Amino acid sequence: MTSRRVIPLSPYRITPLTPNPPTGYPEMVTTFVERPHGCLSPVLLDPVLDDPDLMRDIAVRNGPYFMPARYLVSDATADSASDNSMQPDVEVPDYLIGPTWRGDWAVGSQPLVDGIDCVLEHQGFAEAARAIYDAEVVVPEQVYANLSTPMPGQGFSHTDIPEFIGIDRSNAPGWLLQAMGTSRLFEDVRITIVTAVAWFYQGERGFFRYWPNGRDSDSIRHEKMWNTAAVGDNDYMHHQVERIGPAGVNKPDGLTINSLLDHDGERWVIQEDGQTLLDYGDEDVRLSVSWKAKIYADETTRQAADAGEGGTDLEEVVARLADELGEPRPENAEAALGSAEFRNHLTARWNGYQAGR
Ligand SMILES: [Fe+2]
Repeated sequence: MTSRRVIPLSPYRITPLTPNPPTGYPEMVTTFVERPHGCLSPVLLDPVLDDPDLMRDIAVRNGPYFMPARYLVSDATADSASDNSMQPDVEVPDYLIGPTWRGDWAVGSQPLVDGIDCVLEHQGFAEAARAIYDAEVVVPEQVYANLSTPMPGQGFSHTDIPEFIGIDRSNAPGWLLQAMGTSRLFEDVRITIVTAVAWFYQGERGFFRYWPNGRDSDSIRHEKMWNTAAVGDNDYMHHQVERIGPAGVNKPDGLTINSLLDHDGERWVIQEDGQTLLDYGDEDVRLSVSWKAKIYADETTRQAADAGEGGTDLEEVVARLADELGEPRPENAEAALGSAEFRNHLTARWNGYQAGR
């Protein structure tokens, strides 16, 4: 990873911000869909599971849960951001601090918790994915849970953390992947990822809003939050969690990026430094379960992508991003990943968030 490529005068094509790739796509991508509205429309499923209560049981059994904002501020790889180690002193914008917590339930196509196979291998998700992307090969990779206690609406939409041939969650931090995706500078090495989000919440509100025709068009609010799912293009399609709980609810005081959510056998508890900040009944905690799969047009495309053909590397990624930012290139990729200044420049410009409706 430390070898420097010889970079010709015109090292890469700058993909226009309208993500509408030309036909006959010459680069190494895994599917060949066009996104004339910026993203593809999702497919809704209802019901999702024969035994939806199982998801609540799995949630209760597998805490504690950590704040997903760790993906965006840590220089660790995205895969390791969930190891529950304390974050060093890092500046975290307040809007990224919960009250939403995450648990990884399957990683690298392997289940990490008992009972999750019914989601990892969900045939309805895979069929929807094949239809959305006109693709033959669906490789389920991850399942994770998001648990939220009552909170106001997020106030901003987001797109998910993408992956690329050569650069993925195993070797790059979440903020770098997010900048790569949002910048549209790496469409030539994109891996198509589909996301199914399924909800298992019977409390007040907790709706899901999404923009199926691009962020500048109308949005849709999904309101049935028990045992339904949206299978969609979430690396491109903006989406947002609305208010959870009653009108006027505020997020709790005292949360930090190290706050944890766990279940003590009777109640959900928010813990900070080993102390309980607050506790909630099961009906107050919103659960969504996300499934992510890599999508390939066919088996040949998958094999080429798995072999890393035409892929990029960290040195090239840092060079492209620094050039587009107009910032000096960090000395090398290692220096860039350890630089709070570089990270801040990237996340200020390409963070995947957008405020307002
Ligand atoms: Fe998301």
